[in-house]
Amino acid sequence: MRGQDDGMDGSSFVAVQLWVHDFKAFRAMSSQDQDNAIGRRKSDNEELADAPESSHVKRTAQESFEPQAFVLRRSMPWSEGMRGGLIFVAFGRSLDAFEAQLKRMVGAEDGITDALFRFTLPVSGSYFWCPPMRGDKLDLRALGI
Ligand code: HEM
Repeated sequence: MRGQDDGMDGSSFVAVQLWVHDFKAFRAMSSQDQDNAIGRRKSDNEELADAPESSHVKRTAQESFEPQAFVLRRSMPWSEGMRGGLIFVAFGRSLDAFEAQLKRMVGAEDGITDALFRFTLPVSGSYFWCPPMRGDKLDLRALGI
């Protein structure tokens, strides 16, 4: 939302990444290590008050960024034979929030990498732009159409 009526208001930028899980590596972790990697207890999904700095939810806590890094996540698990993982999908008004989160996940800020990387890796990624609607039609003015 920018309020400039230039064809960008209400549009979204979308980040899509294909992640492949290493299920063997995940199963080899103790249940405490699995919980700590996410920062939530697998048995009841409760957030851990004392989650380590490397836990995924601590790395990506949206309010902890300056400016705050909010995205709308719509990921989808996938599997093909014995392979599987997550198609990560995040919408935002720009790609800044996604990139800020990813930067912290890979340890670019403080050298601490997200514990997710112990058992899953992104193998591809793409950025897309979703145009806004104007009435019942796509508003493509930002593209000069
Ligand atoms: C295989 C890859 C990933 C897995 C399995 C995963 C899993 C999770 C899980 C279990 C949660 C906690 C539950 C929830 O809030 O939905 C979570 C939260 C979150 N994840 Fe991921 N995630 C992955 C990749 C990513 C990536 C690439 C980003 C962004 C660059 C990201 C951003 C977030 C954010 C923003 C939250 C909410 C943090 C908050 O509480 O503010 N995740 N993720």
